[in-house]
This record gives sequence, structure tokens and C-alpha cells, in this order.
Amino acid sequence: MPDSFYIEPVQPVLRHFVEDFRNIVARDGGTAALMPNLRSATERLLLDPSWIDETFRKPVPGTTATWAVYRSQDPDLCIFTMVVPPAGATKVHNHLTSGWVGLVQGAQIERKYARRDDGSRPGYAKLELISADPIRLGELTPLEHPHHDIHQVLTASAEASVSLHVLCNDPWQRGVAVL
Ligand SMILES: [Fe+2]
Repeated sequence: MPDSFYIEPVQPVLRHFVEDFRNIVARDGGTAALMPNLRSATERLLLDPSWIDETFRKPVPGTTATWAVYRSQDPDLCIFTMVVPPAGATKVHNHLTSGWVGLVQGAQIERKYARRDDGSRPGYAKLELISADPIRLGELTPLEHPHHDIHQVLTASAEASVSLHVLCNDPWQRGVAVL
């Protein structure tokens, strides 16, 4: 196993998930089975989300907060929570990878976008809003690079919304702007 960075104390359910994740990627990487099997593993991780304690649910007034839960050295796996204050919204953004997001507190609206230009103009993207759907507590939503990877998330509850992200790379180590 590559070097890993857990936030202590590490919950057993999280250690099991990381093992599951590596086995699934080794077995199903590059196949159609990858996303459904990662979804099942993420569902097991969130069956009882009480291990995601206040450390990972803390809002930062006026902005979107992200709290790292686990990062691998590779970087092939990054787990973090995203906390969006009441009435707040993320920027429209992409992730440059695939993964799953599960809502563990509050309620959200997810706006999905499709890119309509050819990417030839640096710093420019023509985007079209293709859907806006409510996300309920416990619901999992996919991120699938490159075609279903651009979205914006808005909090639709009186309390801050908290979602757990499981991504197949580490956006901070790769210098990708996540939010
Ligand atoms: Fe996102």
C-alpha cells in the first residue's frame, strides 16, 4: 500500500473502505464495473455516517469549506468533506476525475453543466446548464470524468450541507482547483 495520510483518530469503517477501494480499482479499473462497485463501497462507508464528526462538519462563514479525511501519496484516492453554509453555493467547477459524493447533512441542489466549446481557448469554457435536481440526505451522486464532471452545489437547508467526496485522484496534489 502506498503512503497514506489519515486524519487521526482513524475510524475502522474508513480503513475498511480504503482497502475495498484499492481492491476494486485493481480489479475493475478501466472497466464498466468500476463506478457501480465504487458506489457499493461508498454506500457501506455511509451506512452509518456518525463517524464523520464535528471535525469534518464545520462551516466557514461566507465560503465553502473542505476538510481532508484521507489522502494517498500516489495520488489515487482522496476523501474529504465539503461544507456549504445555509443559502451558500459552490462555484461551477469540475474535478478531472471520477468518484462518488454522498450527502451526510442538510439538503442540496445540484446543477449539472455540459461543456459546449472545444477547449481551444485557454481560460474559457462555454457551459450549458443541463439539469438542476434536489439531493436528499443519504443520496449518492456520481462524478464521471470527462462527460459528467462539471457541476455547482447549493445548500437548500437551514443548516449547512455536508457531503463526503470520494475521488480517484487528489485535486490538491495535482494543482486542480476543486472549488
Ligand atoms: Fe464538486
